[in-house]
Amino acid sequence: MILSCSSASLSPSAQRSSNRAPGAEIPLPSDHPPPRVNAKIRSRSSDESLAHNGCSCTCGRRRLFIEAAATSLLPICPSLATNSLSDYTAMLEKVHPPRPDWYEEFYASVLDTSTKAYEAEISGYKSELFANLKGKARKVLEIGIGTGPNLRYYAGNDGFQVFGVDPNRKMEKYAKAAAVAAGLPPANFEFIQAVGEALPLADASVDAIVGTLVLCSVKDVNMTLKEVKRVLKPGGLYLFVEHVAAKEGTTLRFVQGILDPLQQTLSDGCHLTRETGKHISEAGFSDLKLSMAFLPSAAFVNPQVYGMACK
Ligand SMILES: C[S@@+](CC[C@H](N)C(=O)[O-])C[C@H]1O[C@@H](n2cnc3c(N)ncnc32)[C@H](O)[C@@H]1O
Repeated sequence: MILSCSSASLSPSAQRSSNRAPGAEIPLPSDHPPPRVNAKIRSRSSDESLAHNGCSCTCGRRRLFIEAAATSLLPICPSLATNSLSDYTAMLEKVHPPRPDWYEEFYASVLDTSTKAYEAEISGYKSELFANLKGKARKVLEIGIGTGPNLRYYAGNDGFQVFGVDPNRKMEKYAKAAAVAAGLPPANFEFIQAVGEALPLADASVDAIVGTLVLCSVKDVNMTLKEVKRVLKPGGLYLFVEHVAAKEGTTLRFVQGILDPLQQTLSDGCHLTRETGKHISEAGFSDLKLSMAFLPSAAFVNPQVYGMACK
């Protein structure tokens, strides 16, 4: 393994204190204000439970959603960054307002089909990186899971519970199919429509967080990294593969500057010129291991930084 991460080397200040047991499910307080949940941002599983209950009034649907969330495996809770359960849905609407249906479907299907060569090329790096989760992680969160190209790397890790967060609800069917193909039991994979800037999971509730090619697309990189640290258990692992801006003064950097606006339009907000490695380095993780690679299949979406850090 190229990477190792020892929780013994964590500085005490890097470890958040929490008055809840790590990973514990969070009961929703009965006096908590109902979240502003609408049909568009509800997950399919909660839709199914609503359909099953035959409820049609808006207030009843909201109540059922809260109950479904509270009783599911999802450790849904108010985010520290946003302070209330409703705010993660508000943040979703704020940073990633719903795109037209056709656009979300188009982007999801293009992502699903166009990344095969890239995934083949990066697979050696990813295999090594994800091997670090073996025996160390049971609850894993992927931010910006997209069509789920990483799910295959969890195969063979018995008992893995994977939460996949993405604002584009059209990614769900692809991600679920990828989970099935990877041999994950359906109960062990949950797609949640949300954004990295406000993760609907409890403090210190997951063993590992994975993000590949996502910090290019979030609205606020630092806020997302803060959320990653909040949701990770002390000693938890953050695994990343991100494309970053090429070196200033190079032809590639010049081309990226020209193509950046077009890339944002065609690829749902993806930026070509972010200094994401710098953001990760300055986010306050410990044991940061960051390497760089140039992948011909990714053309101008290069170079890429990959590695791992500890909370
Ligand atoms: C280039 S795709 C990468 C998907 C996947 N991680 C992969 O490696 O193929 C970027 C993903 O980030 C998602 N995304 C966009 N804005 C986001 C946000 N604010 N928070 C979390 N995910 C976001 C997009 O919907 C999309 O699925």
